[in-house]
Amino acid sequence: METKDTPLDFYNLTFGFYQTKDMFVSDYKEGKWDEGKLVPLGDISLSPAACVLNYGQGIFEGLKALKTKKGDIVLFRPEENGKRLNQSAKRLLMPPYNVDRFVENVKKVVKANEFFVPPYDSGGSLYIRPLMMGSGAMLGIAPATEFKLVIFTSPVGAYFPGGFKGIDIEISKKYTRASAGGTGFSKMAGNYAGTMMPAKEAKERGFSQILFLDSVKMEYVSEVGAANFCAIVNQTLITPKFDGTILEGITLKSVLTLAQKKLGLKVEQRDISYKELFEDSCTEAFCTGTAAVITPFNSVHYDGMTKIFNNKIPGKYTTKLYEYLTRIQRLDLKDEFGWITKV
Ligand code: PLP
Ligand code: COI
Repeated sequence: METKDTPLDFYNLTFGFYQTKDMFVSDYKEGKWDEGKLVPLGDISLSPAACVLNYGQGIFEGLKALKTKKGDIVLFRPEENGKRLNQSAKRLLMPPYNVDRFVENVKKVVKANEFFVPPYDSGGSLYIRPLMMGSGAMLGIAPATEFKLVIFTSPVGAYFPGGFKGIDIEISKKYTRASAGGTGFSKMAGNYAGTMMPAKEAKERGFSQILFLDSVKMEYVSEVGAANFCAIVNQTLITPKFDGTILEGITLKSVLTLAQKKLGLKVEQRDISYKELFEDSCTEAFCTGTAAVITPFNSVHYDGMTKIFNNKIPGKYTTKLYEYLTRIQRLDLKDEFGWITKV
């Protein structure tokens, strides 16, 4: 599945890398970004002293191009990814990239790889991965002076095998993902390296992912691997507040809008003790993300405690939110919030 020699079956895609045609590359030198250009997707060369290789000065984004029923190719809120790239860049002392140019270049890459956008009825999408890295050579711990922006794509299916069928989650008090004053809010590559071992261990115990808690009290829910957390408690949608340790998800923000405007739910961003998930008042829980879309929790587990949600059938609010979100994303419903950009 992961090499260019394997035949491409749009109807059985996983969330893996598949070689597509072109990528976009732009270089930042002497204080400015060059025009950038499309080149065949392939290796990039870096000095062994590149800042990204030595000290992890690297950030990324993730968004999707989707086929509509009419055959158009559309993007979901790409300008929000451009803005978030710049928030991450600021935290790591990297130069900003103009948001309009970001969207234009994302469109260019998608057009060049149009063949790889999975058909409407496959449920798949063309995942777009923008990367920014400190490419300049240096040795002391200091930001690079040269940077590279790369945008590549890969056709993907569901992030969690089974997709909307749901996942079993383990709560971790052994590991945390982010801490106060750190880089949790940014999409820094190193944030993800640290979650690989916790995820591996949880999978070995039969769980799909870890629900991380805050790093101070090990009490409040933070994030689910690479997705944001939501729960329904007494007809209210609750999600952790953005305290600098949580990535401000574009899917999450869209879900909060849909919950309020389409479902009439109250929304609260507040501290959520993991213990609340085990109470009867918590009737649904799910995670949100570009890759995860909306994935329901079938169960949560902590130290011998188990909560099974709704007999492992996705709850009614989770299902409605999933339908609104995915239908708007493919323009099966009117784009009433102005979220869709045609390629
Ligand atoms: N949280 C983390 C740590 C992520 O990596 C992601 C994925 O991008 C999300 C949340 C969800 O963000 P978005 O909905 O913008 O994809
Ligand atoms: C996304 O949802 O786009 C992500 O970046 C999550 C993950 C694949 C790292």
